[in-house]
Order: sequence, then C-alpha cells, then structure tokens
Amino acid sequence: MAKIQKIKGVADLFPEDSARYAFMEKAARETFTSYGFGELRVPILEKTELFCRSIGEETDVVQKEMYTFPDRKGRSLTMRPEATAGIVRAYVENKIHQPGKVSKYFTFGPMFRYERPQAGRMRQFHQIDAEIFGAAEPQADAEVLLMLSAFLSGIGLEKLSFELNSLGCPECRPQYNQTLKDFLNALDRSELCEDCQRRMDTNPLRVLDCKSKNCKALTKDAPALPDHLCGECRDHFNTVIALISEAGLEYTLNPRLVRGLDYYQRTAFEVTSGDIGAQTAVAGGGRYDGLVENLGGPKSVPAIGFACGMERLALLLEGEFETANDFYVALVDERAAKDALIFAEKLRRNGQKGEVAFSARSMKAELRHANRINAQKCFIFGADEFENGTVTVKDMAEDGEQVTVTRNEYFK
Ligand code: HAM
Repeated sequence: MAKIQKIKGVADLFPEDSARYAFMEKAARETFTSYGFGELRVPILEKTELFCRSIGEETDVVQKEMYTFPDRKGRSLTMRPEATAGIVRAYVENKIHQPGKVSKYFTFGPMFRYERPQAGRMRQFHQIDAEIFGAAEPQADAEVLLMLSAFLSGIGLEKLSFELNSLGCPECRPQYNQTLKDFLNALDRSELCEDCQRRMDTNPLRVLDCKSKNCKALTKDAPALPDHLCGECRDHFNTVIALISEAGLEYTLNPRLVRGLDYYQRTAFEVTSGDIGAQTAVAGGGRYDGLVENLGGPKSVPAIGFACGMERLALLLEGEFETANDFYVALVDERAAKDALIFAEKLRRNGQKGEVAFSARSMKAELRHANRINAQKCFIFGADEFENGTVTVKDMAEDGEQVTVTRNEYFK
C-alpha cells in the first residue's frame, strides 16, 4: 500500500522536539501566572467572520492565508490563524467585562496560515499568547513588554531586540494616513510592487512594511507615524518608554514598524532575532483598544497583548532536551519479568521516574539502554536475583558502584 505523508508545512513533534515545546510552555505558565494571568483555552475552529472582522479584510492573513471551508451545513469556518480574535470573542460572549475590572489571559496552541513554508515559517505553527483587557494605562503596555522579556530571558534567550512604535489612534491615524497617501500619490505608482499599489488605497500603512527593496527605497523619506501622533498618543507612548527604560528593558524605536494585522492602535512591538534566517520576528503584539467593541462587546474596553512563535523560539533554544530518569529496571533473565515490572511500579509509587524492560536482553544491551535514557540508577534482575529474591543496584554515575540487596531492603 502507498504510504500517506503529512501535508506541506506541518510537523510531527517527536519527544525530543516536544520537550522544547513543553519547556517553553512550562516557563511561560510560570512567568505569566506570576503576573496574575490565567490560562484560557479557546477553540481552533471559529466562524470565518470573526477573523475577517478583527484581523481586517485587507490583510495578507485574511486575503491569502486562511484555512477556510464550509462545514457540512454550509457554514464558513476557519482554522484560527492567531489567538487574539478567539480570546476577544470569548471575552465578549461570556460578558467578562465589568467597569474597572482588569482580566489577564494566556493561551498556547496551534495556529494555521497558508504561507510558503521555510525555516521558522510553517502552515501549522504554535503560539504562546497573552492578553490584558480593561487597562488603558501605559503601565499595562509596560507590564506586557516586561513580562515578555522576563519569559524570553527565563528560557535563556537574551540576545533579542525589542522594536517599538506607536500606530496612533482613531483621532490621529486618519490624518496620518492622508499625509502618507499624499506622499505615495506623488510617487510614480507603477514603480511600486503590485501589492503596494493596492495597499496605497486600501491600507497605506502597510506600504511601509513592504519587504521589496525597491518599495523600501522609494518610500525611505515617507512621513513617519511617530511625528504625526496626537498629544494623547504621544504622551502614552512616551510614558511606556519611560517605564520600560526605568525597568531596564533595552529597546529600539522603529518608526516603520506596522503590524500585519489591522486591529492595532498605539503601542505596537516586535521582538526579533538575527539568528534564525529570513524569519526574524519571534514575537509581536500591541494595543488593540477598538477590537472588543468591533466584535460586539461594550464600548471602550482597552486591550493589549502579544504572541510568540514557538517554532522560531525552538530554533534558538540551545542544548539537548533529553529528560533524565531516576531509574532503569534491567531484565537479563526472562523468568524475572514479573518481579521487574512490580519492582518498577513500586519505585514509581515512591515518586521515582523511569522505565522497565519488558523482555530479557544481554547485560551489555541493558546497560546501554540505561545510559541512553539517562537513568541515575540501574536495577538489574538476572538469574541470581530471581532465585534469591534480591536486586542488584548499579549506580550509573562515574564509578558505577554495584550492590546486591534484598528487594524489601531497598524500600526501607
Ligand atoms: P503575529 O505577528 O501575526 O501576531 O504573530 C506572532 C508571532 O507568531 C510571530 O512573531 C511569529 O514568531 C509567529 N508566526 C506567525 N506566523 C508564523 C508562521 N507561519 N510560522 C511560524 N511562526 C509564525 C499575532 O498573531 C497577534 N495575534 C499577536 C497579538 C496578541 N497581538 C495582540 N495580542
């Protein structure tokens, strides 16, 4: 029979790979709960409209990258391309909002985007995501940035750069958009790439984010967003910067940073690494004060959050992620199979972690396996041990010391 292979851009994560993901999730859970965040698991499947309305009809994600299909009743569903929209939907649907209440959530899980796969860019990828609702204060922006930084340094990633920008608000952004449009209209339109020609009318901000060298060169003198912020947005951004500086977080201001999703206002940020090839962003986020209302929730519920790409973080994590075991119960005489299994079970009930052989092999093969699984101790069940009711304990550390004891004695 022909083999069935996985589809393009997805991965099987065997234990060695999963260990990296589990390590990141554990660190994130510890860090985020220390900031008062709680875990919220939202569905992978949502109504397509949720993403169109939140991420924005004109974005690449909605235009080209969503896995969208009709269900058996013909309703359009989409495999989530990100977590924020679902979390906002859950927040609104469950009427979490109360005036003055701050809610903090995090989530982990797979996301789906139909992109061209390459190192660090998958069609099924995983995010660690965190969101705060109900806090308009710049302290919330600072806290989110500091928490992201604490998580990244906690997993040993120090050489990352934090890039920040402010995208303005519904007060000042339209004026800036017009200024930018005027600038773009004065260029020879045909010299811009096709995407940018379209973006010029639909979403001129995105032109600033174009990867094409030619577009970059043509727009290098474009008016910068931070120079066109209203007083309130400027004050907000300056306070965020002052707070994170005070807390010792290093950052760079990037006036051309615009995000690929349309819901952002004010603070926007990305964390990048020079060590993972073409895909440099390991995390991104920002404020999205209008989204709760836009998804049918109460007016003016401010929100801010971020998501990290786990595949990209995994590429940066160094070292082996093998798990150590307390024991291996080796079997060199088949007759002791039952004794070995029961002994291993007792060890586990005593809080130890390890494996037991299911069938007998040579001592050499068994010790090799004990080494391979990083067992601290190897308990050997051979002919003598079977006949005398004993067990031989070999210390797998350097000296390899070995003693034979009665089994009960071991648990005293
Ligand atoms: P995003 O910038 O689209 O933001 O994605 C966040 C991170 O997910 C990226 O920085 C990248 O590391 C990772 N990522 C994105 N696409 C892929 C892919 N195809 N393969 C591998 N990794 C990928 C968001 O998704 C927002 N929801 C973040 C947010 C939360 N903003 C506010 N709250």
